[in-house]
Amino acid sequence: MRGDIRFLRRGRPVRLTAASPTLTLLDYLRLQERATGTKEGCAEGDCGACTVVLRRLRGERVVYEPVNACILLAGQADGAEVITVEDLADGDTLHPVQQALVDRHGSQCGFCTPGFVMALFALYHAPAPRALDRARVNDWLAGNLCRCTGYRPIVEAALASCAGAPSDRFAAQEEESRHALQRLAGNDDLFVGTPERFFAAPTSLAALGQLCAEHPDATLVAGATDVGLWITKGLRDLPRIIWLGRVRGLDVIDDGRDAVGFGACVTLVAATPHLAAIDPDLGELMRRFAGTQIRTTGTVGGNIANGSPIGDLPPALIALGATVALQHGETPRSLPLESFFLAYRKQDRREGEFVRMVRVPKLAANERFRCFKITKRFDEDISAVMGAFKLRLDGRRIVGARLAYGGMAEIPKRARAAERQLIEVSLDRPESFAGTLAALAEDFTPISDQRASARYRLDVARAILRRALTEIAGAPTSTTRIVGRREAVHDGAG
Ligand SMILES: Cc1cc2nc3c(=O)[nH]c(=O)nc-3n(C[C@H](O)[C@H](O)[C@H](O)COP(=O)(O)OP(=O)(O)OC[C@H]3O[C@@H](n4cnc5c(N)ncnc54)[C@H](O)[C@@H]3O)c2cc1C
Ligand code: FES
Ligand code: FES
Repeated sequence: MRGDIRFLRRGRPVRLTAASPTLTLLDYLRLQERATGTKEGCAEGDCGACTVVLRRLRGERVVYEPVNACILLAGQADGAEVITVEDLADGDTLHPVQQALVDRHGSQCGFCTPGFVMALFALYHAPAPRALDRARVNDWLAGNLCRCTGYRPIVEAALASCAGAPSDRFAAQEEESRHALQRLAGNDDLFVGTPERFFAAPTSLAALGQLCAEHPDATLVAGATDVGLWITKGLRDLPRIIWLGRVRGLDVIDDGRDAVGFGACVTLVAATPHLAAIDPDLGELMRRFAGTQIRTTGTVGGNIANGSPIGDLPPALIALGATVALQHGETPRSLPLESFFLAYRKQDRREGEFVRMVRVPKLAANERFRCFKITKRFDEDISAVMGAFKLRLDGRRIVGARLAYGGMAEIPKRARAAERQLIEVSLDRPESFAGTLAALAEDFTPISDQRASARYRLDVARAILRRALTEIAGAPTSTTRIVGRREAVHDGAG
């Protein structure tokens, strides 16, 4: 058992032995180390001003992960090298991304610029494929906000500096860094504090099960992109934290012929290609899930366990027929994902039980899928309504339907009445879709809140279902999914 959190700063190990379990990485940097180049803008993962890069080992690979230090716990940096904006320049020589920002007048206010620099530094080191165009840069920077209208020179700087293979001194020192990270990592369980106040990071499922049994009231943390806000915005004291990020096996993806299994701690970034391979709409959904920094740390398991009625993955995975595997001590069980959500923020999960994995079936040759995320802002926004639909077809006849929504009820939920109305409906008779659209009013009585009115929600729920049915019936629509090439590829795969 190890009693200190360890990470590297400028090549040297930092050891935290008496840190508060909820100390954020940003507070460590700014208040303890006095490295104040990293800024606090929103303190809730939205603006990117606090972006730092964690250089760490993922398997054999050295990766550079941009994260929001404001909501990342210092303990989550364990085993990594923390790189901040102060570290990039080599004496008087700016880093290539810094120089490109200067050359193109992309350095604007002092709040956002350090975050942009660090996001670009991570892009500079992002793994191949390195096809870098404006669209990819825009996606990459969705988690960095600038309110002074200055994106154009920043994007130009990214295009100019991040397109080639990395050749900075970080790349030159990578082997040295790999060895230092290997020495740092270790396989021992981590426990900092006392039984009353601690930050723990077990490394095995057995140790996690035991810790959860001993401290059933402890807060489980995966990426902390939800939990971090309880601390910075809710000002909650979370005295006992169990971080899942070091548990072996929880980050495994088992991509089989008929289904993909995602360990609970698989990050949203890692899950994306596997989800996109199931259906392009899922790839698009993930592209619009928060911003790069949140997707880098946030996890599949956290999005489900969190139980939010407006989380993006639950409706999509319910429509696909996913199951969730839980574990309590050494006892496993699994259940259909839709049965996991019981009431507002109440899940079918006992104290001390944790989500181990989620199994997502792939589409059969006669199945079609669509999903739509409706938000006020295109990028980095939470859904007002999210709808995901899977149909099973016998020729042109609908023989099975799973329609799931977020934002329409206190939990992510299937529209059972609307589903019933679809069975035996022919795709060639669009007039018969009316029954299923009307039935949505039986399934849902949405609320009005700051994101949308109840009436808007019901209208939009109908509109996206109508759109899905129209597209699946074969009539092209304009934007998200055009029947044609993708559909042909999909059919061919079956
Ligand atoms: C700026 C911003 C933008 C966001 N945008 C989106 C968005 O577009 N779409 C969306 O759906 N969400 C969004 N979120 C919410 C959040 O990023 C996701 O819900 C994310 O998937 C949470 O994963 P995590 O690993 O960070 O969870 P954590 O914060 O670590 O945990 C979330 C909850 O799940 C519990 N938990 C975590 N793992 C387990 C486990 N294995 N077993 C049992 N309990 C567990 C925790 O105790 C906690 O209650 C956003 C958040 C922020 C800050
Ligand atoms: S301070 Fe805004 S994302 Fe961290
Ligand atoms: S760079 Fe800070 S508001 Fe634009």
